Amino acid sequence: MPAFAIGRFLGKFRGASLRFPLLLGVVLTVSALAFTGSGCRPYKKGEALYKTHCANCHMPDGTGLEGNIPPLAGSDYFLANPVATACNIRYGLQDTIRVNGRVYSQPMAAIPQLGELEITNIINYIGHSWGNRAPYLSLGKVKKALEECN
Ligand code: HEC
Repeated sequence: MPAFAIGRFLGKFRGASLRFPLLLGVVLTVSALAFTGSGCRPYKKGEALYKTHCANCHMPDGTGLEGNIPPLAGSDYFLANPVATACNIRYGLQDTIRVNGRVYSQPMAAIPQLGELEITNIINYIGHSWGNRAPYLSLGKVKKALEECN
C-alpha cells in the first residue's frame, strides 16, 4: 500500500475515532435524559392516588390548611412513623394530635376503599415528596401494620 494511501486510511480512522466517542456521548446523553424523564418520578401511582384522595384536604403540595388540616410536608408526626398512616387511611383518625408544634383535632374520615398496594404507594409518595425523606416502605410492612390496627 502506498504511503499516501496509508495516510488517508489513518486520517479517516482518526476522524472516525474522534467522531465515534462524540456520537456515543450524544447517544448516552439522550438516553440518560430519556431515562430520568421517565424514571425520576417512581411514585407516580402514589401521586395520582394522593391527588384523588388526599390533596383536597392536605393540599397538592402537602402543606395542609392552617389551623384545620395538618401538613404532610415536613410533618414530624408522619415522619416519626410513616407506616402508622396505613391505619389512619383505612380507619380514619379522630384524635388530638400535635404536628410540628401545632395541635389539630378535626377528624380525618376513613377511606376504606383503598387497597393495601394503593395505601403503600400513597405513603411512599408522601415519604419521598416535598423534601420528606422517609425510608422506602414495602407492601409486606403495610399489610402487617393493617392487620394490627387498633
Ligand atoms: C377530609 C379531609 C382529609 C382527607 C381527604 C385526608 N385527610 Fe389526612 N388528616 C385530616 C385531618 C383533619 C387530620 C387530623 C386528624 C386528627 O387530628 O385526628 C389528618 C391527619 C393526617 C395525618 C397525620 C398528621 C400529619 O399531618 O402527619 C396523616 C399522615 C394523613 N392525614 C394522611 C392522609 C392521607 C395519606 C390521605 C389520603 C389517603 C388523607 N390524609 C386524606 C384530613 C384529611
